[in-house]
Amino acid sequence: MKHFTIVGNWKMHQTPEQAVRLVARLQEKAKPRTHVTSVLCPPFVSIPAVKAEIQDDLFKLGAQNLNEKDEGAFTGEVSGAMLKELADYVIVGHSERRHYEHETDKRIAKKVAAALRNGLTPILCVGEKLSDKQDGHTRRVVVDQLQGGLSQITGAEIGKVIVAYEPVWAIGTGESAAPDQVEPVVNVIRQTIEEMFGEAASGSLEILYGGSVSPDNVKAYLVIEHINGLLVGGASLNFEQFTAIMDTAASISDGR
Ligand code: PGA
Repeated sequence: MKHFTIVGNWKMHQTPEQAVRLVARLQEKAKPRTHVTSVLCPPFVSIPAVKAEIQDDLFKLGAQNLNEKDEGAFTGEVSGAMLKELADYVIVGHSERRHYEHETDKRIAKKVAAALRNGLTPILCVGEKLSDKQDGHTRRVVVDQLQGGLSQITGAEIGKVIVAYEPVWAIGTGESAAPDQVEPVVNVIRQTIEEMFGEAASGSLEILYGGSVSPDNVKAYLVIEHINGLLVGGASLNFEQFTAIMDTAASISDGR
């Protein structure tokens, strides 16, 4: 039986009131999905409201970012030490933070370490830009981001990390990557983890795909052998679409 992790990244959408309404709708339609872990990642300010609304452990909570320090004079920042009271997961190194906030692999590595130090599961995002893909540099970019982002952790900690492969050109564009483009990159990720942390770590690593996932294409990704779930942006804001994605994951998982 394959287990899937389906993560909804709400980005800078959903005020606390809107978030409560969205969760209520998601729960109205929810049925037990035994082999699926569904994770909601609201903006920081909406996390407490969502936490209060979640019933019967139907959803886990995640944040979209964290600071690499646990506390201090860092105006406007939020730490893993704060998030751990509210959430179980945290997205680290999303391409929107790499590009708009100029996050480097070095800083991302510190954030991954901060997440683990605080008992949060980091979801490390890696992926190439369109120009990297056109220049044939996908492999190099993904390997560099993995080696950089995971440079501060030990072999004992890699088992608590999730990696999300998100080709930047597929994010929010409606232009999802074809499954036969995703599979070789997923293999590169496993191979890199094997080189860094050994075969057992590579075999048990959870790898998600993200980038314009929708109810129409979800199945094609989940049947890829080495994919363990999805990181969903736009479609996670629509309760019918996100429900359909979680239900498809549950049915594929049951059929395996
Ligand atoms: P998208 O976003 O599903 O809207 O393409 C994915 C992501 O940014 O995680």
